[in-house]
Amino acid sequence: AYTAKIGPSVLSSDLSQLGRECERMMECGADYLHLDVMDGHFVPNITFGHPMVECLRKAVGPNPFFDMHMMVSRPEQWVKPMAAAGASQYTFHLEATTNPGSLIKDIRESGMKVGVAIKPGTTVEEIAQWAGHIDMALVMTVEPGFGGQKFMEDMMPKVSWLRSQFPSLDIEVDGGVGPDTIHHCAEAGANMIVSGSAVVGSADPRSVIALLKDVILE
Ligand code: DX5
Ligand code: ZN
Repeated sequence: AYTAKIGPSVLSSDLSQLGRECERMMECGADYLHLDVMDGHFVPNITFGHPMVECLRKAVGPNPFFDMHMMVSRPEQWVKPMAAAGASQYTFHLEATTNPGSLIKDIRESGMKVGVAIKPGTTVEEIAQWAGHIDMALVMTVEPGFGGQKFMEDMMPKVSWLRSQFPSLDIEVDGGVGPDTIHHCAEAGANMIVSGSAVVGSADPRSVIALLKDVILE
């Protein structure tokens, strides 16, 4: 059977309660937590950095997987601080670095898993040369920067192409994914599914996560 993990993005939750929100998502059946780091430069919005991640790690304990989505201009700068703060995986944007190879190596040496993300305007072939060296490819299905945007179905060919070329690579989709759009992602071969506003903005996150898992299994 097809399996995929659901990682809520807590970006659109009450940020004054972020630790509690992370705990709540795990209690509601989340497989991992997708944490969106924005620096106001790579994207036109600011969220939080490694000091917050350190606090969240203390709040949720050692087990939850922290998938760091680094929407920052200088991803090299935060590898060690994020590893020390308790991040599990470090996903940088291909558009933000001139030397992906050395960054991949640094992330690996810091003990985290490695992810590479592309914005909607970046072609998927640019990931191909790194695919053998990374754990996960993130195909953005909105322009990064904000939660609650519309899912871009025309990104699905990127996912299917990656899946056909790299059968064992983790492939994540992020942006506008919810009960109405997740089937596109599952069919294309994504196995790590981020869902922000659809889950966190719901009155009943547990039911939405269960529904997302049901759609995947259909
Ligand atoms: C967008 C972020 C996403 C976003 C997802 O820049 O990377 O993780 O918060 O939220 P939804 O699911 O609401 O698009
Ligand atoms: Zn994200």
